Amino acid sequence: MNIHAERPGLASSGMPPPPVHLLPRIGSSGAGTFLEEGRLLKQALAHCLPPGFALERGMRLLDFGCGVGRLEFQLVEESRDVEIWGCDIDEESIAWLAAHFGPGFRFFCNGSRPPLDAPPAHFEVVLALSVLTHIPDGWCAWLEELRRVLKPGGLGLLSFQSVIPFVKTVGPATTLHRAGFVVDGAENDWEACGPQVYQSNDWILENWSSVLPVQAIFAEGLGFQSLAVVRKGPATGKPAVLQPFVHVHPQNGFHGWVDYDPWKPRNWWLESGWCERLEPGPLHGWFVSDCAPLRSVHALGAGGRELPVTHTSRPDVAGAHPEVRWAVDAGFTIPRDALLGLGSGKHVVTITAADWDGRVHWLRVQVTIR
Ligand SMILES: C[S@@+](CC[C@H](N)C(=O)[O-])C[C@H]1O[C@@H](n2cnc3c(N)ncnc32)[C@H](O)[C@@H]1O
Repeated sequence: MNIHAERPGLASSGMPPPPVHLLPRIGSSGAGTFLEEGRLLKQALAHCLPPGFALERGMRLLDFGCGVGRLEFQLVEESRDVEIWGCDIDEESIAWLAAHFGPGFRFFCNGSRPPLDAPPAHFEVVLALSVLTHIPDGWCAWLEELRRVLKPGGLGLLSFQSVIPFVKTVGPATTLHRAGFVVDGAENDWEACGPQVYQSNDWILENWSSVLPVQAIFAEGLGFQSLAVVRKGPATGKPAVLQPFVHVHPQNGFHGWVDYDPWKPRNWWLESGWCERLEPGPLHGWFVSDCAPLRSVHALGAGGRELPVTHTSRPDVAGAHPEVRWAVDAGFTIPRDALLGLGSGKHVVTITAADWDGRVHWLRVQVTIR
């Protein structure tokens, strides 16, 4: 069934939060985090936009599988210039959105198979965020349908689950690399997001590109899920596979992170060396072990060369880990000059921490010096 629901709603400031019983259907952690989840999602998407691309007055954007509007809550400002369309199979979520969002938004229900109730070549941008990740059959028909409604040259931002989600929830990475496409929990309840689909980057490049050429993959670029940037039109050049976040080697009770700001990226394409030189800065991060205070932190650059590490105090980390009383001493910094000393090229820097209990945790980050 396809019901269009268009009606003037309330201003964003007057918008009530969505009903809590709809939140598990989009995998939200709850009412307390719903808005923050949307804000982070929007921020990550902005990082992945191809250089030069911007939403402009008169454009139309479709959020396929919009759920109860986690992203739409963040697009109220944009809806003054850009028509924001959202669709989903969940009638209750669509009815709620239609009743509460303003005139810059349009919402409609779609069936479990194409077509969508939208004209061909209608949208400059199509999003499918955490949607194809729950559709085990018929991915090709849906991709073809998204291509149909995109304008020539239109942009698609489509998320998928690759290695990190697979390893955390299903099995070893080699299984996914070998199979390419894996479905887990085919019988899962839709109240809890339904089946889970996982794809390797290579599978996406080969199969999605046959319908909509993949320009880039941001591996785990949405934090947990990966994002494929596709265009309607002939393929241009070799797709880029970029990994904007550090590789984290998690150990229970021993956390670590690199604040990935050495290039203060406005955009991950740029940060990955695709377009222009950006001025590098120091590399900051932290480690917290809940067993014992940190004993040492070491950083190794190319060829096992040791880089200087300064310890710093991190009240923000202490705030996030109030149960660990030594968390304030978690910070480390690798100075800018030490990074520049690696010389031009791509380098992998490994930062290893040990605690007084003898446990070890490491982070690995790619550093590009031009
Ligand atoms: C995990 S939620 C993501 C919702 C939203 N994109 C977000 O990021 O907040 C998955 C959504 O996909 C919807 N969905 C699943 N299959 C669909 C289909 N064939 N067509 C449209 N929506 C679908 C579900 O109803 C659900 O709202």
